[in-house]
Amino acid sequence: MELLPVVCLCLLTWSGTTFAAGNGPDVIKMVVKEGDDAILPCSLSTRENIVQKLFDWKRDGQKEVFLYDAGVTYGKDHPGQDEQFKQRVFHFPDQLPFGDASIVIRNTKVTDSGNYTCDFPRLQPRRRGLIELVVGATRKPYVTILEQTQDGVLLQCVVKGASPKPQLQWQDSGGNMVPAKDPQVTDRGGSYDIILQTTVTKTDHYRCVATQEEIHHQVYTETYVYISVPESPTGWIVAGVLAVLLVVFVLVLVKNKLNSHKGQSAGSPGRTIRGRTI
Ligand SMILES: *[C@@H]1O[C@H](CO)[C@@H](O)[C@H](O)[C@H]1NC(C)=O
Repeated sequence: MELLPVVCLCLLTWSGTTFAAGNGPDVIKMVVKEGDDAILPCSLSTRENIVQKLFDWKRDGQKEVFLYDAGVTYGKDHPGQDEQFKQRVFHFPDQLPFGDASIVIRNTKVTDSGNYTCDFPRLQPRRRGLIELVVGATRKPYVTILEQTQDGVLLQCVVKGASPKPQLQWQDSGGNMVPAKDPQVTDRGGSYDIILQTTVTKTDHYRCVATQEEIHHQVYTETYVYISVPESPTGWIVAGVLAVLLVVFVLVLVKNKLNSHKGQSAGSPGRTIRGRTI
């Protein structure tokens, strides 16, 4: 969906990914959809063979993601890989001769979001690469009409399990922001539940818009609210008078009709009489 162009942009960025020694590593920002695989790129600009070298991937400077040491990866010789990444992270053995230490994280979760470093601690000079990974979980807002009060109609918008944290907004059919209460936000370890309520006083189409700027994603749910305008007392009087007039009018019509019937039945015998006289 909307996430796709961003992912494609990342793919384009990946192909040119190398980093030089010395000046600080450039940060590559990547966005993937929850459940997709993420390839974290890391290649030496020298393209030197790293089959017999050591490289180490960490997240946020501490969590052990992946380690390669001259053919050995995590196992009994190198304990310490974080539980979160066990059996989910792989390197590309056939790319090692070309200085490529990229890894793939399978079936990403929102908790995989973070800053990843790819490190060659034993190389002279030492090389490091930095990649910011954002795993996006998009959720369509769920809209309900809670109740009708004297002040108007109370609308509720709920988004559950979205990441990164979305901004919610109520809008009318003209796209104008409708003032709302403060959102209720629950952080469930990187994914968010948000509730946003508003009271509307006019008949209109209203939409709840969820925006996740970091992953260029926006989605909305629309609902139609009909608010009946209370009848004014003069309205009732006018309606009453009109009803009385209508009844009178109908009565008059019926009476006329009956009269004309009488005239006809009186005329028929007359004709007979006239016939007889001829
Ligand atoms: C990466 O690090 C930067 C700077 O510390 C921080 O603002 C950002 O939120 C981090 N990214 C993720 C996905 O955690």
